[in-house]
Amino acid sequence: MSDVFPVSEQWAETSRCDKAKYRAMYERSVKDPDGFWAEMAERLDWMRKPTRIKNTSFEGDVRIRWYEDGELNVCYNCVDRHLEKRGDQVAIIWEADDPNIDRKITYRELHEKVCKLANVLKAQGVKKGDRVTIYLPMIPEAAYAMLACARIGAIHSVVFGGFSPDSLADRINDAQSKLVITCDGGVRGGRAVPLKENADKALEKCPADVKILMFRHTGLDVPMKKGRDIDAGPLMKEASADCPPERMNAEDPLFILYTSGSTGKPKGVLHTSGGYLVYAALTHEYVFDYKDGDIYWCTADVGWVTGHSYILYGPLANGATTLMFEGIPTYPSITRFWDVIDKHKVTIFYTAPTAIRSLMQKGDEPVKKSSRKSLRLLGSVGEPINPEVWKWYHRVVGDSRCPIVDTWWQTETGGILISALPGAIDLKPGSATLPFFGVQPALVDNDGKILEGPAEGNLVMVDSWPGQMRTVYGDHERFVQTYFSTFKGYYFTGDGARRDEDGYYWITGRVDDVINVSGHRLGTAEVESALVAHPAVAEAAVVGYPHDIKGQGIFCYVTLQADIEPSEDLRKELVAWVRKEIGPIASPDVIQWAPGLPKTRSGKIMRRILRKIAANEFDNLGDTSTLADPAVVDELIENRKSL
Ligand code: PRX
Repeated sequence: MSDVFPVSEQWAETSRCDKAKYRAMYERSVKDPDGFWAEMAERLDWMRKPTRIKNTSFEGDVRIRWYEDGELNVCYNCVDRHLEKRGDQVAIIWEADDPNIDRKITYRELHEKVCKLANVLKAQGVKKGDRVTIYLPMIPEAAYAMLACARIGAIHSVVFGGFSPDSLADRINDAQSKLVITCDGGVRGGRAVPLKENADKALEKCPADVKILMFRHTGLDVPMKKGRDIDAGPLMKEASADCPPERMNAEDPLFILYTSGSTGKPKGVLHTSGGYLVYAALTHEYVFDYKDGDIYWCTADVGWVTGHSYILYGPLANGATTLMFEGIPTYPSITRFWDVIDKHKVTIFYTAPTAIRSLMQKGDEPVKKSSRKSLRLLGSVGEPINPEVWKWYHRVVGDSRCPIVDTWWQTETGGILISALPGAIDLKPGSATLPFFGVQPALVDNDGKILEGPAEGNLVMVDSWPGQMRTVYGDHERFVQTYFSTFKGYYFTGDGARRDEDGYYWITGRVDDVINVSGHRLGTAEVESALVAHPAVAEAAVVGYPHDIKGQGIFCYVTLQADIEPSEDLRKELVAWVRKEIGPIASPDVIQWAPGLPKTRSGKIMRRILRKIAANEFDNLGDTSTLADPAVVDELIENRKSL
């Protein structure tokens, strides 16, 4: 039996959803999706109200359309419509890396900045449907840039600042962006991040007509290429603050966000306007029980989907005050999160297990130095949270007072699919609990057979929800293949899960070749192709292995070219190489020299065995009789033991 933390009486009474309401709303959402989602769409301001609500199919060519005859502007919904009632309310609290610097941006100021930037973009020739790549740190300009794109109907593609020039170039090229918005440099944990320099390097691999619009942030002296690089500062000063929002169809694209899969290069996940915003806003309101007066802080980066949906779009569509943090949890000290919570009187705090684990390691004392009295709700996202970490988060950070919502979702899902609602669903540490309105999860075995009752299997979705991705940008066939071909008629998440006797879902992690390192999603294939691009490497196989802080670490088996000797220097060189190719987030944790890799007679690498060896589980390797050369396994085990 797992522990249960029942909904408190106070939460049941005061939150926007109690048990009965959850059950009723859920039931209606799956029995009458058209009626339910038509009603939920009323939370937005439409230029043309949708009359066709759901038009989706997971069969054949796969079609996902929501609100398809509706028209709206996402930026208008996140900014303009709040001006009358909350023009002077703070929309964004910006907390800099330096603890002495912060800024508060009201909805009125946000409107002005976004309109100006939208006009700057227009003056650069950016039109509806054009793609704009955003490569910015966690500064307000990132929010302005995303909203300005939405305002004029341009499709943004945000690239996380921790990606290398090569990764940035791939994403610019795939999206065929003609403009990259960046800044001179970023700063995280007191360390400089050379964003403009990276963008310069990336552009060496892009068409000559790609331009850079650069904001100044750290004041770093950076070279500006004439005719290509544009200084945003003077243009923003001169630009008009009047820019009417573009009329957009609900199914017009809002953004592309690249994410890793089992195979090949990262895919451009495409989200559209109407359904995405309804879903992001509704989940933000219900899962976090957001109410006027809350100070809401999601610690993610806008380079990831969590930042899109739950720093920016969901909260702003709800007229919230959202905190944007430039720094890291451990700078200038390990009390930074708690200091920020006290400084800004944060009421809702949403972070990742990896951050909690690293802070938990330092004990209770640093947390106890802070008050945290303002907190009323905690959230977790990005990877499974171990029950003992959950309990520490609950007891120490939340003083046993704050419920924890463990939210399971993906870049592809646009918003939270499985999570507790704090006033409606009893909590079990380690379980994401129950599906959100309209979400129909199921478990299937490896043959695609639906499993009933308590079971463990592959997590699929039976039907669509408004926040679902619509396609892989420029490659609909890949979309169909990746998500709908493994189990016919279902959306396959790539995750495994267990369902208990109460119908609660327990996510067990990825069942494909995707790994989750500190909440960052990486394809093992990407790391492998980076490694084999090094001249000394003949072959490489990469797997995830359990890591106390990161959740999973990156374990690389490397076979060197015949004439190359392994050495400590070469090991370091390969780590640096992968960082350069993909970015610092892909730093290998372990490189093990492998004279050979375990392959079947048809040449397929048996990753199952490699995962076991990496995890130091040597007893239970399963059937090795189909291997072309079973002796390599013994050798790998010996090498692993001596690491
Ligand atoms: O494996 C699941 C894990 O993160 C994957 C999605 O990664 P990404 O697209 O980068 O989005 C992360 C933020 C939504 C999932 O397939 N994951 C995410 N949230 C949880 C989780 N695993 C367990 N519990 C969660 N709450």
